[in-house]
Amino acid sequence: MKKSYQSLDDNSTNNMKQVIYRKLTSKIFYLGFILLLTFSTSISAQDGDPVAGKALFNTNCASCHKLDKKMTGPALRNVEARLAEDEGLDREWLYAWIRNSAGMIAAGDAYANKIYKEYNGTAMTAFPQLTDADLNNILAYTAEEPSTPPPPPNDPNVSESTNSGGVSNNIILGALAILFMLLAAGLFAVNKTLRRFADSKGVELAEASSRTPLWKAFLQNQFLLLVTAIFFLLSSAYFVYGYLSQVGVDQGYEPVQPIHYSHKIHAGDNGIDCKYCHSSARVSKHSGIPSLNVCMNCHKSIYEYNGETTAEYTKEFYDGEIQKLYKAVGWDDANQKYTGETQPVKWVRIHNLPDFAYFNHSQHVSVAGIECQTCHGPVEEMEIMYQHAPLTMGWCINCHRETEVNVKDNAYYEKIHEELSKKYGVEKLTAAQMGGLECGKCHY
Ligand code: HEC
Ligand code: HEC
Ligand code: HEC
Ligand code: HEC
Ligand code: HEC
Ligand code: HEC
Repeated sequence: MKKSYQSLDDNSTNNMKQVIYRKLTSKIFYLGFILLLTFSTSISAQDGDPVAGKALFNTNCASCHKLDKKMTGPALRNVEARLAEDEGLDREWLYAWIRNSAGMIAAGDAYANKIYKEYNGTAMTAFPQLTDADLNNILAYTAEEPSTPPPPPNDPNVSESTNSGGVSNNIILGALAILFMLLAAGLFAVNKTLRRFADSKGVELAEASSRTPLWKAFLQNQFLLLVTAIFFLLSSAYFVYGYLSQVGVDQGYEPVQPIHYSHKIHAGDNGIDCKYCHSSARVSKHSGIPSLNVCMNCHKSIYEYNGETTAEYTKEFYDGEIQKLYKAVGWDDANQKYTGETQPVKWVRIHNLPDFAYFNHSQHVSVAGIECQTCHGPVEEMEIMYQHAPLTMGWCINCHRETEVNVKDNAYYEKIHEELSKKYGVEKLTAAQMGGLECGKCHY
């Protein structure tokens, strides 16, 4: 009995151990499974795809929200963390709000009513169509760290950095000064050693006072004097002639503008049509510079630059230039409204014919169908605008001699063309033969 008891006992403890063991392992396994499950579901709930989120944000939310500043609605960077911390609201609340904010306000949700009031009762669009996954992606996008720091407004260094010419000039001047100092020190050292050498050999050196000064020696030598005089006369004549023939010819003129406006970025990289801004080129004498209101058609929403940059033209530099535009038109970007404080921008005029010459854009652009680039060069590649053509009379005349008048599909020219080509005995007509060389056409 005892034995059997014993054995039973042995057995039972053994069995008990096994049972406990099995229970434990299965429990651990079960627990682990649960843990894994909750963990994985929580991962899929917390983690969205910020790239997909950005696209969703831009199509659905960007018209009212920005990440880092107030617009129609609040800034949404880290909104989930902010609401969890300040208001104790969770993701479920956000789902409900985004899908139907009006419903939450009507239902008397405290925070919903608070923020609604804060934004003067502006209604947010309802997005019942967005799935949990969509919203997770959007929230993941809003939780991303900003890639670049916000632009320093009106950085005083910004305007200086455009003045790179001055910097390189200074470097050259500095190098020259150093070179000169080295030379002087060298000469001084040579002089000193020679004197010491002469001393040691007992050679007599003439005292400075008894030597003829250099300028006196120079004046006494008539041949040297003549050569120098001729040299000065010739070189000054050369410079005066050069200067006079350049008067009024400003080819290559490239002034620094009050706002660094890049034709390369606008007309080149972003393909904006010249006539979007220079709209009067087609219809009037002048092509004109666009008013700043035209800029704001786009720049109310383009408040930063994200294109290509170089060492000289950095993102910070470009962002600073957009801030200058805002300052000039009095645009308060943080609150998305005009302040009324404007500062006119004085663009430096680059192309400028004298008053006695008449030039008409519409005649050349619309009637003759000449491309802007024929006269203004590769504008779409110009980071800084410059004068491409010399704008001399010879330049105008040459082109009138060479360019054939565009008479195709131009009823006005059909008759004249026939008459004139008979008169000149040629098939094709140049602008010159149409009267493009008559003084009165360009001078009045
Ligand atoms: C038509 C404009 C509009 C659109 C579009 C819009 N919102 Fe809003 N949103 C608002 C306004 C306005 C508020 C402030 C509360 C109010 O007035 O209803 C707000 C508030 C919020 C809040 C609360 C923020 C806080 O700090 O309390 C969140 C979150 C939010 N919006 C997310 C989104 C998301 C995500 C989208 C895109 C799917 C979106 N909104 C689209 C206008 C808009
Ligand atoms: C987004 C607006 C915009 C577009 C598009 C644009 N420009 Fe300009 N343009 C300006 C502004 C602003 C200035 C004055 C600042 C400057 O000179 O850089 C200017 C200046 C010029 C000037 C010099 C004017 C002067 O002072 O003599 C020429 C020439 C010119 N643009 C030609 C063009 C051509 C050609 C195109 C198309 C390839 C073009 N622009 C596209 C805004 C624009
Ligand atoms: C048709 C739309 C449009 C108009 C009009 C426009 N811009 Fe822009 N602007 C852009 C775009 C697009 C960019 C480049 C943004 C990017 O690449 O991230 C830009 C960039 C800029 C930048 C930074 C790069 C640079 O050129 O220095 C400045 C400054 C700027 N614009 C000023 C102006 C001014 C001044 C005007 C008016 C004369 C103007 N813009 C008119 C679309 C426009
Ligand atoms: C046949 C040559 C020619 C063509 C083509 C031409 N321009 Fe000009 N452009 C000039 C000359 C010359 C001036 C200087 C006019 C003056 O000082 O009165 C000028 C001046 C300008 C100016 C300075 C403001 C003004 O109106 O005086 C702008 C801006 C301009 N052109 C833009 C354009 C644009 C944009 C086009 C294409 C749609 C274009 N130009 C086509 C020759 C040309
Ligand atoms: C790229 C070539 C080109 C350049 C450069 C050019 N023109 Fe012309 N111009 C033409 C053509 C082509 C016509 C003929 C237009 C037409 O079909 O009526 C013309 C016509 C004219 C006319 C009208 C002539 C008439 O018979 O009615 C005047 C005035 C004129 N140009 C002035 C100028 C002046 C001033 C300049 C220099 C600042 C200039 N043009 C530069 C090509 C040019
Ligand atoms: C196609 C247009 C055109 C025609 C035709 C033309 N001119 Fe000119 N002329 C100009 C322009 C543009 C200038 C200004 C050039 C400058 O600023 O360098 C000029 C300048 C001048 C000047 C000032 C001196 C100078 O070279 O700067 C004189 C003088 C002159 N023209 C006389 C004449 C006479 C005389 C005729 C007729 C035989 C004539 N022009 C025909 C466009 C023309």
